[in-house]
Amino acid sequence: MTALLDAAERLGREELEALQLKRLRATLHHAYKNVGHYRSAFDKAGLHPDDCRTLADLARFPFTTKADLRDNYPFGMFAVPEDRVRRIHASSGTTGRPTVVGYTQRDLDTWADVVARSIRAAGGRPGHKVHVAYGYGLFTGGLGAHYGAERLGCTVIPASGGMTARQVQLIQDFRPEIIMVTPSYMLTLLDEFERQGVDPRATSLKVGIFGAEPWTEEMRREIEERFAIHAVDIYGLSEVMGPGVAQECVETKDGLHIWEDHFYPEVVDPFTGEVLPPGEEGELVFTSLTKEAMPVIRYRTRDLTRLLPGTARVFRRMEKVTGRSDDLVILRGVNLFPTQIEEIVLRTPGVAPHFQLRLTREGRLDALTVRAEARAGATPEQRAAAAESITAAVKDGIGVSVGVEIVDPETLERSVGKFRRIVDERGER
Ligand code: DLL
Repeated sequence: MTALLDAAERLGREELEALQLKRLRATLHHAYKNVGHYRSAFDKAGLHPDDCRTLADLARFPFTTKADLRDNYPFGMFAVPEDRVRRIHASSGTTGRPTVVGYTQRDLDTWADVVARSIRAAGGRPGHKVHVAYGYGLFTGGLGAHYGAERLGCTVIPASGGMTARQVQLIQDFRPEIIMVTPSYMLTLLDEFERQGVDPRATSLKVGIFGAEPWTEEMRREIEERFAIHAVDIYGLSEVMGPGVAQECVETKDGLHIWEDHFYPEVVDPFTGEVLPPGEEGELVFTSLTKEAMPVIRYRTRDLTRLLPGTARVFRRMEKVTGRSDDLVILRGVNLFPTQIEEIVLRTPGVAPHFQLRLTREGRLDALTVRAEARAGATPEQRAAAAESITAAVKDGIGVSVGVEIVDPETLERSVGKFRRIVDERGER
């Protein structure tokens, strides 16, 4: 196995930290010198890049938020002349301006390298065929996966998202070993396999590399069982790079190793911004260590997780993301994430792994309805029992009352990419 690792994956912890510090200092200088936003933010904090003498000193530097990126739309955060930027991606966001990110040729090379490393950690090898069903375009999923798979020496099938029936056909005809797709779209594919009368356990697929949205251990079990594959997690975000910031290793499946030679993680208290000790849950913050076109310093991801020591690799791990702080529902004072409902729904007999959360307003209080789909053939008694069991599990496990509706099979909206779990019908407030 070690023979397969690249040079950075074979570093000792101390060597890795020395490399990180060197790269961190260079990044701070690069950002300070070339990006107006960082220069004024550091000046305002009374800090100079030379004040960063240890990795812990990074905590003294100011955070960067999505609002900073929006305020500098479109290219104000770029640290190189525009003619050195080889690619632009953007994330749509729900409101207002998109967030724009740029890459130099070297950045694109680094990105391909970390995605190649991710696919290898997932069990991919040169010569494997990789079916990429992440969307191609301004979203980083498709192209990010694509160039990484090519870099590893795989054959890429650039299917992109959508046209589900054709995806199933392609998988049968081209016989890929690996699929890269959002976990929710994998479930849409599962339905399509069954609709076409094809046994999903009998495909050529061996590994699925799933990310771009939160998913749970229960979802892993469901997908692994239904497809007879290994399901591993890939994490990333456009602002930091795209997919391939962190990846779960297939041999341990114990959270995601962060490719720390390129992305330096911190976990902070989401309210105070204080750096939390290892193992405590909080908001993940990233500083890029090698990016040229758009270095990010202490970028607040809004993703909640905890940092854990490395296992299969020297790099630290992050636990599977619980959710984004934006997806937190506060229901009569109780905090709830869609992933908590996912765990419950997927454990409940008689219901399919398809569910959505409907937020409404009853008088002055918010109300949540879990809409889950019955499995085909479930009897009315089984459906009633499922509704009762979900209600009780949410009440016992999370501590709040929700409504539960078990709807007919194949009636809920299906994912074609990142899935919208919460349907907010509360209107203007
Ligand atoms: O979703 C990049 C990506 C593409 C990652 C394909 C993995 C696979 P954005 O569109 O900028 O980039 O969205 C980033 O998606 O901050 C998380 O909230 C969420 N996210 C991404 N990966 C995971 C994951 C891509 N494995 C945002 N688990 C992030 C949970 C994830 N959430």
